[in-house]
Amino acid sequence: MDKYLRASPVDAERIAQAEAETTPHAWGPVMYASSLESGHDTVWLCQQQGQLQGAAVLMQVLDEAHLQNFFIHVRHQGQGLASLLLAHVMQQAKANAASQMFLEVRCSNLRAQALYRKHGFQDYAVRKAYYRLPDGSREDAVLMKAML
Ligand SMILES: CC(C)(COP(=O)(O)OP(=O)(O)OC[C@H]1O[C@@H](n2cnc3c(N)ncnc32)[C@H](O)[C@@H]1OP(=O)(O)O)[C@@H](O)C(=O)NCCC(=O)NCCS
Repeated sequence: MDKYLRASPVDAERIAQAEAETTPHAWGPVMYASSLESGHDTVWLCQQQGQLQGAAVLMQVLDEAHLQNFFIHVRHQGQGLASLLLAHVMQQAKANAASQMFLEVRCSNLRAQALYRKHGFQDYAVRKAYYRLPDGSREDAVLMKAML
């Protein structure tokens, strides 16, 4: 990985493209553009030689940081990049005076839950039927938080 970069609105299209190649639950380019233009979110990218490997969307309100979205491109998974990117965003939030980080994850997404637990996140609630699935059914969200 070259380094972590802060995305700007011009990156919205390529982040959305990379996430769409990775998961059916991807944000679209309009959502990334509005996140990046809002001034409330920071989108961290990891990339190598200009190739986008993953992204993390972070919002902070007072001392609470919220991880709004997170992915590693499907071609780059299983190499420890998610751990590195998550550690980076947690450290950035702490440096920015956040004391806790919150997130929501699909209850079926055991892989992401394992990642978050490895980094000190604990479950604190379940939000019933929070996510809508393509077939019209619903899936619960697991709410997790970590002290920074
Ligand atoms: C979840 C995701 C971010 C993991 O990315 P990754 O780069 O493959 O993860 P890493 O290689 O850094 O692994 C870090 C930890 O994640 C967990 N993990 C990763 N792959 C796993 C797997 N196949 N099964 C179980 N746990 C897994 C483990 O805790 C792992 O630590 P370990 O290697 O010490 O066991 C990636 O699969 C992804 O982007 N998925 C699609 C989008 C998504 O689900 N985002 C989260 C939304 S809340």
